[in-house]
Amino acid sequence: MFRVGMLTSGGDCQSLNATMRGIGKALFNHYGDQIEIYGFLEGYKGLMHNEYRKLRSYDFSGILDEGGTILGTSRQPFKMMRVVEDGFDKVAAMKRTYRDHKLDCLCVLGGNGSQKTSALLKEEGLNVIGLPKTIDNDLWGTDMTFGFQSAVNIATEAIDCIHTTAASHGRVFIIEVMGHKVGELTLHAGIAGGADIILIPEIPYDLDVVVSAIQRREEEGKNFTIIAMAEGALSKDDAKLKKKDFEEKRATIPASYELAAKITAKTGQEVRVTVPGHTQRGGRPCPYDRVLSTRLGAAAAQLIIKGKYGYLVGIHNNEIKPVPLEDIAGKLKTVDPKSDIIKETKMIGISFGDE
Ligand code: F6P
Repeated sequence: MFRVGMLTSGGDCQSLNATMRGIGKALFNHYGDQIEIYGFLEGYKGLMHNEYRKLRSYDFSGILDEGGTILGTSRQPFKMMRVVEDGFDKVAAMKRTYRDHKLDCLCVLGGNGSQKTSALLKEEGLNVIGLPKTIDNDLWGTDMTFGFQSAVNIATEAIDCIHTTAASHGRVFIIEVMGHKVGELTLHAGIAGGADIILIPEIPYDLDVVVSAIQRREEEGKNFTIIAMAEGALSKDDAKLKKKDFEEKRATIPASYELAAKITAKTGQEVRVTVPGHTQRGGRPCPYDRVLSTRLGAAAAQLIIKGKYGYLVGIHNNEIKPVPLEDIAGKLKTVDPKSDIIKETKMIGISFGDE
């Protein structure tokens, strides 16, 4: 009997189920009744506390287009808590569950923090395969994470909807897009939604430049402006602050509301803020994600069949490429301000608020 565990960890996103389906179907196809799959509940918590459900072949049917995760999720365990807490050794507990079930491998569907933990478990001697999940597309070792394109669709749709009302009222609108500390989601949704100004953490903005971009549009007879702003975007002044001071400030006011107030103070103009928030992570995966998840899931199964463990299944130039977990752990993939996509976007007159 071959035994595989799987879990979904961190913030959820579209296509988690599609990815598990890819792994599950490929494994059942290969091993038939010689495989047992253990689905650990609520991420690493389930592995720590031995809470799981056995996944049968039929559990992987009908979930390709289902949002969320059939296993539930929780934030990865070592961010806010110590590894040993109140005498409970989390790593030892996870290893115990793994050994007790005689698992041959554990599949971790997760983003940055979760893959750091999977690298740690690899170091501790477990056979782990990582699958790149997150709407932020900020994971090192892969061009694309599943969830990202679905979130781009939703954020773009939000910007499209704002366009008509902004034009009717002649207003400045800020749409705050998720992405944590990275601007990839905002960049793509901003371009796809035809935003006039795109503000991302990688390119700190200057308020005066943002205001003059709005005024330039007015001079051209355009009575509204759409700003796609990453939740992690910051001004040039903010960029000079110490991390702690910046975090304290951000806890009192979100980036978008702060900018809206500043634009109004400078121009007297009405500014509205729209925050699509967690809708960007919800609902059904788009076709692109379903295809990506199917490929990544099957590729993970392929590694398991070959007994090749300790990798994140990434995709590079449309080819599946496994990357050692220790090479990606703790690294953040960010938008390169000098990249072609930024240059091309600037060429059509979209401002990043920097020059
Ligand atoms: O990492 C995915 C993400 O949606 C980020 O874009 C966002 O900053 C964060 O998670 C929100 O986290 P939570 O679900 O804990 O509010």
